[in-house]
Amino acid sequence: MKYTLITGASQGMGLEMARECASLGRNVLLISLPKENLKDLSLKISKEFNVQTDFYEVDLTENTSAKEIFNWVMKNNYSINFLINNAGFGGVGAFEDYTLEYLETMIDLNIKATTRMTHYFIPELKKNSPAFILNNASMIANFPCPYKSVYAASKVYVKYFTEALRIELESFGISVSLLQPGATPTNDIVKSQIQKGGFIARVSVTEAHKVARKAVRNTLKGKHVIVPGWKNRMSLRFLKVLPYSLLQIAILRSYKSMQKN
Ligand SMILES: NC(=O)c1ccc[n+]([C@@H]2O[C@H](COP(=O)([O-])OP(=O)(O)OC[C@H]3O[C@@H](n4cnc5c(N)ncnc54)[C@H](OP(=O)(O)O)[C@@H]3O)[C@@H](O)[C@H]2O)c1
Repeated sequence: MKYTLITGASQGMGLEMARECASLGRNVLLISLPKENLKDLSLKISKEFNVQTDFYEVDLTENTSAKEIFNWVMKNNYSINFLINNAGFGGVGAFEDYTLEYLETMIDLNIKATTRMTHYFIPELKKNSPAFILNNASMIANFPCPYKSVYAASKVYVKYFTEALRIELESFGISVSLLQPGATPTNDIVKSQIQKGGFIARVSVTEAHKVARKAVRNTLKGKHVIVPGWKNRMSLRFLKVLPYSLLQIAILRSYKSMQKN
C-alpha cells in the first residue's frame, strides 16, 4: 500500500495538502512538531476520506530527524511514492535584529530538513516509481527580499535544488515539482503580514485549500513549477519584465511598509 509523506502537516498548507491527497484516495503520513494534535488530525482524515493514515512527531531542525522518520517508515513497512517537503517558516524584520539562533533554525528547517528528507527517501521513491516529490518554496524565491533576506535566500535554495533534482531523477520515474505560493493566510503571523503588507503581499493572497488543491493535483500530473493563483502568475510575469532598478524600489517599498506597521 502506497503512502504520501508530508512534513509540516499539522496546519496551514501542509494540512490542506494532506486532506487533498486523502480526498484523491491517497494514504497519508503526517509529520510535525510534537504536541500539535497530529493524532486527532490523522484519525479525522482517515475517517473522513476512508484512507490509511499515520503520524510521526519530531522537530525537523534536529540533525537526526530525517533518519528517525525514515526508520519509522521502514519499521512500519509504509511504501512512499510521494514526498511533500512543506515544513518551513520565515518572518519579517531587519537581518541584524534577528538572533543568529533564529536564523540558523530557519536554515535548518527550510534548507537542511528538505535536503535530508529528500536524500533519505529517494531510494524508496525509486523503488515505488512512478513517484513524486513536491518541494514548497515561495514566490519570494524569484526576487531579493529586504527584511526577509534569509527566508527568501532559503527559498532560492529550495527552488534551484528542486529544479536540478528534477533533471537528475527524471529517468528514474520520479517527477519533481516546485511549489511557489504567494501570500497564503495560514498562521497568525502570515495573516498579520498580509494585513500590514504592501502591494506585493496583498495582490498575491490565495487560500491554503486552493493552493493545496493546485499543488497536489498538478504534481501528480507531472507539472514542474506550480504557481497557484492567476494574480501570482500575472505578477511574476510583470516582475520579470520590470527593469531591475524599478523592481528593487517596488519590493523595498512593499516590505518597508510591512516593517513600519
Ligand atoms: N503562508 C504563506 O504565505 C507562504 C507563502 C509561500 C510559501 N510558504 C511556505 O509554505 C510552507 C508552509 O507554510 P504555512 O504558512 O502553511 O505554515 P504553517 O501554517 O505555519 O505550518 C507550518 C507547519 O510546519 C511545521 N513545523 C514548523 N517547524 C517545524 C519543525 N521544527 N519540525 C517539524 N515541523 C515543523 C508546523 O508544525 P507545528 O504545527 O507542529 O508547529 C506546521 O505543521 C512553508 O515552507 C512556507 O515557507 C508559505
